[in-house]
Amino acid sequence: MRDELLFEKNPHSHYKPGQPRVTHVHWEVDVNFASRMLSCLAFVNFDGGGETNLDLRNLEITSITDEDDQPLPYHVSPTHPVLGECLTLTVPDGKPRVKIHYWTSPQASGLQWLTPGQTQGKRHPYLFSQGEPLHARSYLPCQDTPGVRFTFDAWLTVPEELRGLMAANKHVSQSIENGRMVEAWEMTKPIPSYLFTLAVGDIASRDITDRCRVYAEPELVDAAAAEFVDVDRMMVVAEKLFGPYEWGRFDLLMLPPSFPYGGMENPCLVFLTPTLVTGDRSMVSVVAHELAHAWTGNLITNATWGDFWLNEGWTNYAEWRICEELYGREAMMLQAALLRRELERDFRDLAERGMHQYTALASYVPATLDPDDIFSRVPYCKGALFLMLIEQTVGRERFDGFIQKYIETFRFTSITTATFLDFVATELPGVLEQVEAWRWVYGMGLPDNAPKIESPLITEVKKYAQNGGIPSRDEAKGWSANQWLLYLELVPRDGIKPEFPEMLDREFTLSTKANADVRWAYFLLALEVGYAGANDKVESFLGKVGRLKYVQPLFRAMSKTREGLDWAHRIFERVKTGYHPIATAQVERILREAGERLAKA
Ligand code: BES
Ligand code: ZN
Repeated sequence: MRDELLFEKNPHSHYKPGQPRVTHVHWEVDVNFASRMLSCLAFVNFDGGGETNLDLRNLEITSITDEDDQPLPYHVSPTHPVLGECLTLTVPDGKPRVKIHYWTSPQASGLQWLTPGQTQGKRHPYLFSQGEPLHARSYLPCQDTPGVRFTFDAWLTVPEELRGLMAANKHVSQSIENGRMVEAWEMTKPIPSYLFTLAVGDIASRDITDRCRVYAEPELVDAAAAEFVDVDRMMVVAEKLFGPYEWGRFDLLMLPPSFPYGGMENPCLVFLTPTLVTGDRSMVSVVAHELAHAWTGNLITNATWGDFWLNEGWTNYAEWRICEELYGREAMMLQAALLRRELERDFRDLAERGMHQYTALASYVPATLDPDDIFSRVPYCKGALFLMLIEQTVGRERFDGFIQKYIETFRFTSITTATFLDFVATELPGVLEQVEAWRWVYGMGLPDNAPKIESPLITEVKKYAQNGGIPSRDEAKGWSANQWLLYLELVPRDGIKPEFPEMLDREFTLSTKANADVRWAYFLLALEVGYAGANDKVESFLGKVGRLKYVQPLFRAMSKTREGLDWAHRIFERVKTGYHPIATAQVERILREAGERLAKA
């Protein structure tokens, strides 16, 4: 049964089920900041001989040979706008190992090359990769589908004063050779390609526990270590929920501010936005989320990007459980309420773009559609609420037993939604009917049997927000960052005067809060009610932080009118050199679609 699952066809890869599969990669890379190119040698092992396909995007292949250095014939297809190119070759029988020499492009979609000016320290350049969902193929020829797993060893040659990190469980060696730093890493646990990850920069580290260390630029590393002191307690809760942590180390890397995500669950080395370091630990739930991925995502992986909710819904559910245990049920509910609001936003956005079908949990995402273009909170929030509903229906104790068995059964495999549903039907008979699972999995929008999200913390905020009221300083004294966020979300947009955000900022200085989430929510409110007084700050925020969660809604909000769209274009022209290629692509899409809508209206 397991093999059958691994062969599930994923439309976003040229790899065809049944072809020889990659089992191990030996990677030698020279990192060249001047040309913004990686010069690479990849020895790729397969599980047998025969014709097979590898995914590429924009790679310059210079040679492909067999074990004995004899040239192997190969063919590269024309470029597909979403999938990139297909490399077809015949793996020799008996010696199923091929040697590929190639260069990456300076425009590789999964790499961001930063100038010293774009880093915290301003002294050294920086490079990092982002594989999920389809970008690993822009720096590694691979079967870029979450259904194929492989181990690797990597040898990074970088400038002498920098560090070269990989998301791997063994640091093999570090040495200076010919004036260059060579760092070797080995990953002995099989991973899907989207988790194949590197980072190079002026990176220091501090140990937090014996299995967790934080890496960051020297100027941030102490503050980061202080921010994440809770990490071991998180690991204890996660292990209680899911079983033993299997990856050895759980290290954290703080990226430069252009990092397009809050966090990315690269195994053994989670990537985080530096905006999490607020000084008050108000955003540590992101670490809980990326930690939970070590099980749901990295151990059990979605088979296709249409099953993405198996990664994110499960992980979000686990994030809530960890936060409930550590910070209490009220705080957890508040977090859920916030995500619920983001979900509503995404429902509206998808509907506006004629993509309402992607509000189902599981959908067929065709090769013509880039998963990046339909990213939303649907897999996260609707997925987590679905699991919460099952939990509430069967009771927590039984559900916790189910979770353990789920992990045990499917660890190190990739599964589809159908497999998950089969498993539930067997282990928790009758529950799918009880919760009307088909409405959740295949139906659009949020079913009306969704669990209620309630907490006194939410009620308190609602009291002020609902009719556009402002709490007194005294009343809002104990508000957490999340309460402010929810307040800013809930303030009705209709009938609110532009003076309202102005007053709010005068009272509470929200536009300069340390928590970037709060600043962002304030800017969004300002844009949505037409308050121009925050425009300069919006502009400077967009020039500093490249996290998609902030950047996308702000550009969307700006682009509702002609003048707004012109302004958005002007800002984007100015800030885009600092954005990650993934963020650039998304903002370009938002501006293009906004232009089309305005032209039609
Ligand atoms: N795996 C995701 C990030 C991601 C999703 C990268 C899709 C590429 C494509 C990561 O685990 C994530 O969900 N990050 C969230 C943070 C989280 C606390 C919800 C983010 O970046 O907002
Ligand atoms: Zn996630």
